[in-house]
Parts: sequence; C-alpha cells; structure tokens
Amino acid sequence: MKFIASFGLLLITITACDYKPKNQGKSLYLKHCQSCHMENGQGLGQLFPPVSNADYVNIHSDELACIIRYGLEGEITVNGVTYNEAMSGNRQLSDIEIANLTYYILKELNDIEKPYSIAEIRLQLDRCK
Ligand code: HEC
Repeated sequence: MKFIASFGLLLITITACDYKPKNQGKSLYLKHCQSCHMENGQGLGQLFPPVSNADYVNIHSDELACIIRYGLEGEITVNGVTYNEAMSGNRQLSDIEIANLTYYILKELNDIEKPYSIAEIRLQLDRCK
C-alpha cells in the first residue's frame, strides 16, 4: 500500500513536470508537427517548408496561431523556396496549447525574443481569417 502510494506520487510528479508550459510547447510540436516539419523544424526538401529559422514564420509571426488551428493552403515562399501544398488545422488544440506551441516555435526555433502572451494569442485566434 505504501509502495503504491509513493509510486502514485512519483507518477504525479513526473506528469506535472511534463506539463510545465515551457516543455508543453516542445512535446506538442513533437506530437503534432514533427512528422512533416521534422524534429528540429528544418522541413523536408520541396515537400514541407521549414518552421525553424524561417523567414515566413518571422514575417507572419502573428498568424502562426491561426495557421496551427485552421491550417494553410495556397502558394507560399519560405526561405526562397516555393510551396503549394495544403496543411490541415489542429482544431483539437486549446488556446493555451496553441500559445505554448507558438512560444516554442517563435522562441526556441526562431530566436524571436518576445513571444506572444496567452491574451495576445487569444486575440489573434478571435481574428483568424
Ligand atoms: C501533414 C503534414 C504537416 C503537418 C503535420 C504540419 N504541417 Fe505545417 N505545413 C505543411 C505544409 C505542406 C505546408 C505548406 C502549405 C502551403 O503550401 O500553403 C505547411 C506550412 C506551415 C507553416 C507556414 C510556412 C512555414 O514553414 O513557415 C507553418 C508556420 C506551419 N506549417 C506550422 C506547423 C505547425 C506548428 C504544425 C503542428 C501543429 C504543423 N505545421 C503541422 C504540412 C504539415
């Protein structure tokens, strides 16, 4: 009984750690994005555009939340390469999950100093085109 209790506590601790906002962005990225954009966001040739060190992400940083939720289609140019594919959205992700994912992509993958707050992300999501 004592063993079960401490094991349970350990589990809670591990899960709690994993859900720190800082780490959540990365695990969401690995779960929902890396299959196409690759582990470090480098993309895959002419098929999938990069999301790390990507001029598109820098120029359109305030559209990133909308792209994550609703997807993107049509011709775009990323770091000089033209893509004309379609990406489906992730409607199952909450505002907070999208905020954490956006934080990870802007800050960790693109060195953008000041990622958006959750309030700013909510405003952006309200105004998606
Ligand atoms: C099934 C493959 C696939 C998955 C999974 C995917 N994408 Fe995409 N993504 C694409 C494709 C293809 C495009 C190019 C769309 C176009 O040509 O208009 C794209 C474009 C983008 C762009 C704009 C261009 C760029 O590279 O800066 C961003 C930002 C982006 N995706 C972020 C994400 C994020 C964040 C996730 C995870 C939530 C994700 N994508 C999941 C395929 C995918």
